[in-house]
Amino acid sequence: MYTNLDRIRQGIEMLSKFNDSDGEGLTRFSLTDADRGARLYLKTELEKLDLEVYEDAAGSIIGRLEGTDSSAPTILIGSHFDSVRNGGNFDGPAGVIMALEIMRVLKTKSIELKHPIEFVAMIEEEGGRFGAGVFGSRAMTGQVSYEDLVRNKDEAGISMAEAFEAFGFDPKQIGKAARKSEDVKAFIELHIEQGPVLENEKIDVGIVESVVGIREFKVAIKGRPDHAGTTPMKMRIDALCAAAELITELPEYAQQAGEGTVATVGVLNIKPGAANIVPGEVNLTVDIRSGQTIHIQDVYDKIEKKLNALAKLKGIQFEIEMLLSVEPVAMSNELVEIFKKQANQNQFSYKMMTSGAGHDAMIMASLTHSGLIFVPSRDGRSHCKEEWTDYDALQKGIELICHSIIELGR
Ligand code: HGY
Ligand code: MN
Ligand code: MN
Repeated sequence: MYTNLDRIRQGIEMLSKFNDSDGEGLTRFSLTDADRGARLYLKTELEKLDLEVYEDAAGSIIGRLEGTDSSAPTILIGSHFDSVRNGGNFDGPAGVIMALEIMRVLKTKSIELKHPIEFVAMIEEEGGRFGAGVFGSRAMTGQVSYEDLVRNKDEAGISMAEAFEAFGFDPKQIGKAARKSEDVKAFIELHIEQGPVLENEKIDVGIVESVVGIREFKVAIKGRPDHAGTTPMKMRIDALCAAAELITELPEYAQQAGEGTVATVGVLNIKPGAANIVPGEVNLTVDIRSGQTIHIQDVYDKIEKKLNALAKLKGIQFEIEMLLSVEPVAMSNELVEIFKKQANQNQFSYKMMTSGAGHDAMIMASLTHSGLIFVPSRDGRSHCKEEWTDYDALQKGIELICHSIIELGR
């Protein structure tokens, strides 16, 4: 084994300490105190390996190890270091620690590769604070503008641009985070499966062939706030009752689309939000995912149709604000073949998989060869404090990527 189990465990445990959670699990939103602690820890560990360490214009952390041919395109490895609210310790950090461990192996074993290798810890993949996910990778692929930073706001109304400035980053430089395709040879991510398949089938690693398409948007439903005691039922324009009709029908829309299509309302805010006031406004989020864009469109169209019907029948008004729209994407065949070969050579059992979760790897596929390896999740749980991956299982995934990088890098 190239890799060291204790260092891997220590990395996960150290990152888990940087946590702003007000209750259970891990909450590490971008550009917060928890982010600052994790950033310092990672940059310190990278500096110990005397890599070139910096943050790109999007605030993602980079550690660069030169190759024997510094003009050769770079191999990027990593994942994200932000979390969802009250999430787990492995979603993101499993891939960040993979990259840190491989940097340590390459340095301490003086493994010289032709291609430069860069450690990448992406910012704001979850969109937990500012709502727009896979941010670091979208910036790296030139899909983010300064206007996005001004528009994306957190719950307190602080824009990403303001948060950048408070952290010492210049939001106007965001365009500089974009990489040129010819400068990048591959992006390789390790991630926890966040599902039960690998554990149930007792398989070491998942080799991801494709990632589902995702469409995530906000819906604002405007009714009319009224006195809950004196307003007759027929006179009300109750935003929450309208929202409830839509939310109740959503699972049916996903079932009708079929082929694994899913739809979720994860956020629901009610204004003014008092027991004796008829809800005047409701803000909710919808997350639609499918392996086929046509199914995502089908669910979206039914939602729009329902909202128009509610406007006509109930007198509500509505607005839709798109947060994220990503097509289903295939991972690089070349990388899949290398992963398969290295898994066979190193006696790791593997399964070809589709990812129902979104990842930075799906975005990086628009720029370069992108590969994604899954390691098992205990009971298939994720985005909760129960999220867990055994360290020896994580090490197998890291080992596979290490062998793959060494082959690819030569
Ligand atoms: O939402 C997702 O699939 C990922 O956890 N960001
Ligand atoms: Mn996640
Ligand atoms: Mn993740």
